[in-house]
Amino acid sequence: QAASIPADRVPDMEKRKLMNLLLLGAIGLPTAGMLLPYTYFFVPPGTGGSGDGTPAKDALGNDIVVSEWLKTHGPGDRTLSQGLKGDPTYLVVENDRTLATYGINAVCTHLGCVVPWNKAENKFMCPCHGSQYNNQGKVVRGPAPLSLALAHADIDDGKVVFVPWVETDFRTGEAPWWS
Ligand code: FES
Repeated sequence: QAASIPADRVPDMEKRKLMNLLLLGAIGLPTAGMLLPYTYFFVPPGTGGSGDGTPAKDALGNDIVVSEWLKTHGPGDRTLSQGLKGDPTYLVVENDRTLATYGINAVCTHLGCVVPWNKAENKFMCPCHGSQYNNQGKVVRGPAPLSLALAHADIDDGKVVFVPWVETDFRTGEAPWWS
């Protein structure tokens, strides 16, 4: 009579162990993926900014002067800046060497990894679970359920200012899921 644990308890234990493993996997992976980029872009948020616009910051935390940016970022370039609420946000250089009027929020809509730009593939490709977005951030492959969020990239006094995007998503023709 050494085995006093009722047999019907055992599957529960196993299930719990499995749940813990799944939880760890779901939380652990994206956390590891987010840590580096977020640390890299960590700058105390909420400094300055009038109205609902937020000045874009470069990797060093400096304001982004459009004319300077365009000297070092050529056509097709997509480079991260610090966007609304501190979210890593891509600035896009159009083929005519102007700055696109929209920025692309780099936070994957699946579980929140920062999605790198893959120039060779002309896509944003998430390293965490393989989601893909086209060069405007429209989702083209899951598991990500939604396209990357947009922000207006306005120019004020020669500098980039992000303003919340509340209008129709021009890539999908739908209302923005993020506002
Ligand atoms: Fe899962 Fe990007 S976080 S695919």
